[in-house]
Amino acid sequence: MGAVEAVPDGWHLTLGEGRIPVLRLPDPGAPAIADLPGEGIRALVARHGAILIRGLGLASPADLASAARALGVAGMAECEGFTSRLAHPDHVYSASDWPSEDQLCMHHEQSYAAVVPSIALFGCLVAPESGGTAAVADGERMMELLPEELVERFERDGWELARSYLEFGFTWAEAFGTEDRELVSDYCARNAVDCTWTEDGGLRTRQRRAAVLRHPVTGRRVWFNQAAFLHESSLDPLIREHLEELYGVEGLPFRTLYGDGETIPTDVVDTINKAYGVAGLTEPWQDGDLLMVDNLRMAHGRDPYEGDRQMVALFGDPVRVAGHQPR
Ligand SMILES: [Fe+2]
Repeated sequence: MGAVEAVPDGWHLTLGEGRIPVLRLPDPGAPAIADLPGEGIRALVARHGAILIRGLGLASPADLASAARALGVAGMAECEGFTSRLAHPDHVYSASDWPSEDQLCMHHEQSYAAVVPSIALFGCLVAPESGGTAAVADGERMMELLPEELVERFERDGWELARSYLEFGFTWAEAFGTEDRELVSDYCARNAVDCTWTEDGGLRTRQRRAAVLRHPVTGRRVWFNQAAFLHESSLDPLIREHLEELYGVEGLPFRTLYGDGETIPTDVVDTINKAYGVAGLTEPWQDGDLLMVDNLRMAHGRDPYEGDRQMVALFGDPVRVAGHQPR
């Protein structure tokens, strides 16, 4: 049993070693989703980085949209995604289409974009039978855990994401939400993404971003990137080998590099993922849970799971982060 901290409105926040702080609503008398005290909850998220609200009975995509309104979170459309998601009204999306048996490594949502969501909301409509635990990791803590020289290199050079969209699999039209090449090229020009159309109808993009940010509210440095998650070592080895044979390394659907274009060795990716493991906070999902995450400070991930898990997500309060642009 963790410590209990008094919070506004007589609710209680449970803090446990290695656990995501859980805000349990009083029972009976839980407020309707639309009456959530947004200001109080936002203050808790600002302090702790992430809060799991239990007892809300979140049961539909519309409930997540309603919670977002109560919390004062303005939803945004996803662009440059990596997997197909079902889009519901009000910028609510289904969870990413990632195989249930695979680990979803820690990442900050859309940290490769020029404008990033500062808040991520996740609603658990149906909890998995086993596994699939909610997991977050503090980017401030990552700065303490990672070797100094590793942080220095990333902080100096940033990181680069290189993508190749082929005619099959997840296409550029799906990622950019349009089949109009001009619109895609315009988007890339406005968002500091280098893009090249290939003769076979594909698209290759490269974008360099800062890997360490100063949090706009706390002013503290935070590890904020997807250099590890989107490294080519995350690809299925057989698929990777096959694609490399066909198209070369530049034809891989995604890979990451140091911001100066140098290769990131696999052992560096392992070091980053190990630090995420140490920094990680977890909490098994229950039906109706709502997780609110400061996406600039905290990474999130997901364990493999079994059962009919149904999650919805909303990313919002977009910010153009200072220094999150190529030099
Ligand atoms: Fe995510």
